[in-house]
Amino acid sequence: MNTHLGIDIGGSGIKGAPIDVLSGVLTTDRRRIPTPQPALVEPVSRTLREIVGSFPAVNGPVGCAFPGIVIADRIYSAANLDAGWIGVDAGARFSEACGRPVVMINDADAAGLAEARFGAAAGRSGVVLVLTLGTGIGSALLNDGRLVPNTELGHLELGGEVIEKRASNRARKTQGLSLDEWTERLNQYLAHLDRLLSPDLVVIGGGISKRFKKFGPRLRSRAEVVPAALRNNAGMVGAALWAAGSRIAQPTAEKRR
Ligand code: BGC
Repeated sequence: MNTHLGIDIGGSGIKGAPIDVLSGVLTTDRRRIPTPQPALVEPVSRTLREIVGSFPAVNGPVGCAFPGIVIADRIYSAANLDAGWIGVDAGARFSEACGRPVVMINDADAAGLAEARFGAAAGRSGVVLVLTLGTGIGSALLNDGRLVPNTELGHLELGGEVIEKRASNRARKTQGLSLDEWTERLNQYLAHLDRLLSPDLVVIGGGISKRFKKFGPRLRSRAEVVPAALRNNAGMVGAALWAAGSRIAQPTAEKRR
């Protein structure tokens, strides 16, 4: 069975699609439902059930990407969702709501797995950092294709402020930054990450990555910096890989599951 459902929970939308885990391709159109506000456990569980119910032909465990720290299917942070998630065994709650196993992974880690398998970091060895710049900033760190889960590098502080409050795509919009001003903030962040991690390759993901042609040339980094290839599908694709028990590239994560 090569098709698994991948679901990506975001601050504004919850989307799901069947994914061919051998190619990373969506086998039908995705289904997207606005994230219930407030994004409490019960209504989000119902939304998940509705999405799973939209794809009756797809069996097996469902993978679900979540915007917070996830260890063994339990949630440990939810900076941009609702604090009520902290401590919740989301895997158990969603499995119950959907009537089938649901396995959880951090959303940026899912995007990182997907980019490493099928996208901008496919076939790349060394230290790869995938950053998702959206409502918050998510990070996935891989070494020779192996994921170090839950790195949360969007919560580093720079100049006394949590970096996702300065350099996320939301920060750009809400603070009315020009693309150049925002790019400078991203440059400061990349320099900081380079000091700490010396990545070989940095993949820039999230909605803003579609404008990479505009801001990419102004990025300065010792590491190679490229746009994500899978764009908004990366979370769903990585979640489906996770559900498929795709462990080849991430034994560290496997042990903690
Ligand atoms: C969360 C991360 C998440 C990122 C992107 C951050 O605020 O702490 O877990 O990956 O947002 O959604």
